[in-house]
Amino acid sequence: MPVIFEPFKIKVVEPLALLTRQERELHLRAAGGNLFGVPAEAVTFDFLTDSGQAAMSTEQWSAVMRADESYAGSRSFKRFEASVRELCGYRNIIPTHQGRAAERILFSLTVSKGKLIPSNCHFDTTRANIEYGGGEALDLVIDEARDPQHPHPFKGNIDLQKLERVVRERRADIPLGMVTITNNTAGGQPVSLENLRGISRILRAAGIPFLLDACRFAENCWFIREREPGQAQRTPHEIAREVFSLADGCTVSGKKDALVNMGGFLALDDDELALRARNLLILTEGFPTYGGCSARDLEAMAVGLHESLDPHYLEYRARSTAYLAQGLNRAGIRTVQPPGGHAVYIDAHALLPHIPAEQFPGQALAIELYLHGGIRSCEIGSVMFGKLTPDGSFAPARNELVRLAIPRRVYTQSHIDRVIELAGEVAARASSLRGLRMSYRPEFLPHFTGRFESVG
Ligand code: F0G
Repeated sequence: MPVIFEPFKIKVVEPLALLTRQERELHLRAAGGNLFGVPAEAVTFDFLTDSGQAAMSTEQWSAVMRADESYAGSRSFKRFEASVRELCGYRNIIPTHQGRAAERILFSLTVSKGKLIPSNCHFDTTRANIEYGGGEALDLVIDEARDPQHPHPFKGNIDLQKLERVVRERRADIPLGMVTITNNTAGGQPVSLENLRGISRILRAAGIPFLLDACRFAENCWFIREREPGQAQRTPHEIAREVFSLADGCTVSGKKDALVNMGGFLALDDDELALRARNLLILTEGFPTYGGCSARDLEAMAVGLHESLDPHYLEYRARSTAYLAQGLNRAGIRTVQPPGGHAVYIDAHALLPHIPAEQFPGQALAIELYLHGGIRSCEIGSVMFGKLTPDGSFAPARNELVRLAIPRRVYTQSHIDRVIELAGEVAARASSLRGLRMSYRPEFLPHFTGRFESVG
């Protein structure tokens, strides 16, 4: 197998922060053991998220300079609209400052108490926006997705039988159906074209609009091309056109596959809904030809959306994620299988079986990866999803994972090699890691601001 190299040259560089363990200890103590509180200048390898972290291309930066910042009717909007429409085909393209703003507008207009939105897995902000409106966000992902070691190639798929049943029993309560591509919550796993066709058939037969949460659409299309029988000869662009044609609209955070640092959009075929969405956009985001973005953001997205479908880029992207997973596996660290598109998820429970869920093994591992190597990751386990029950006991999360999300076009293979080496050193002395106690637990979203102390 030939080496798959980064298909770009580097034109602008930013030095990495190289600190000692003692220096990192001081930063972590000041942050109360929470990596969200550590300043970026004290992080060497930042894998907290892939969102908004992309390095932009020369073409994107050129487009930024071309931007027309007119308040109304800007030429940049026209270019953005044409770029999105060429890809998705939807009639109405509504820019928002990021993905959750598109979600908020969509669900403000469609969800009220008693409504139900089925999906494979809703991302946190999607779920929160549905629940904020009094609705129910229902996850219908296939059972295989719940098992971190199951090798199913499309662990983002919806269980179509469950979807059919829900549609049959609750039709009147369902204003729209969704699917997240790729399925971030369940490990960055793709949804197959066959499954998307099935979802579309079921929803359309029932007259229910179908929307994609499409922020990682390009990575999903690459997995379809690589893993789905009969798809290898098609370009990612052709696959993407078909994927979008199966749905009636989408919400997109441009901070992922549109390769920008800020931006997003809502796209809808339904003119009447789009009219109401634009009115709400004016109220909360901005005029419909910029909608919460500057024109330069729209220009960069217009270019990035198409760059991310370049097969050389996607091959490198998928291979570098798999490369990190395989390196960690060789160092004795179990990861969710198969590796996702944008991130590798370490199974912290498997690595630290001596730390019980209520002592947060994922957070303990994330902290040690930081102290030992300056690697910033994100716990997706009992810190994020554990619940204090009314009787005062603790209900842990289903899995104790640590996510290493890979920014697009930012780190090279030697960075990844060093991360594998450092993580391997942590794994070699895993049994000496200790559990944690949450010394401050905020009422909501404890992973952002909770504080931690070592136990024992
Ligand atoms: N949908 C999915 C699947 C996401 O992963 C995200 C963000 C959003 C919607 C919201 O987009 O941040 O632009 O408002 N995911 C980031 C992450 C935050 O780290 O996975 P946003």
